[in-house]
Amino acid sequence: MKLYILNGPNLNMLGIREPSHYGKTGYSELCDMIKKHCTSLGIEAVLYQSNHEGELVDKIQEAYYEGADGIVINPGAYTHTSIALLDAVKSVQLPTVEVHISKVEEREDFRQVSYIRLAAVKTITGHGVAGYTEAIDFLFDYLKK
Ligand code: DQA
Repeated sequence: MKLYILNGPNLNMLGIREPSHYGKTGYSELCDMIKKHCTSLGIEAVLYQSNHEGELVDKIQEAYYEGADGIVINPGAYTHTSIALLDAVKSVQLPTVEVHISKVEEREDFRQVSYIRLAAVKTITGHGVAGYTEAIDFLFDYLKK
């Protein structure tokens, strides 16, 4: 099983940016945690972070061409604005889990819209960085069925 784990803008600043919302775990620590978890399940993980919308679209398309089985994505602020990311996920038709570290539903009004959610098989919010391993576990079970 191969999963693409994608992170959008400012998620490279984890550990530094607004710890009250996003906690103290840094991005490289998060990557180590995800890699370890995937290895324990026999999953090949491709991790990628970009601050650029088009690069995230490219990576979603790459997931398709490289034969990935699913995608875990935290699109950061592009969650609330990007029809391009929604269209990319719809184009590749790979089961996709949307993850947010913070509890977006309890935050500002502008965070209440999620375009990517329209194409996601599941959304996880407010579980901190543990949301990523939950998303991986979900896809692991979902893909086995
Ligand atoms: C986020 C929530 C978004 O609203 C925000 O723009 C982010 C991170 C989260 O993980 O909680 O960059 O996706």
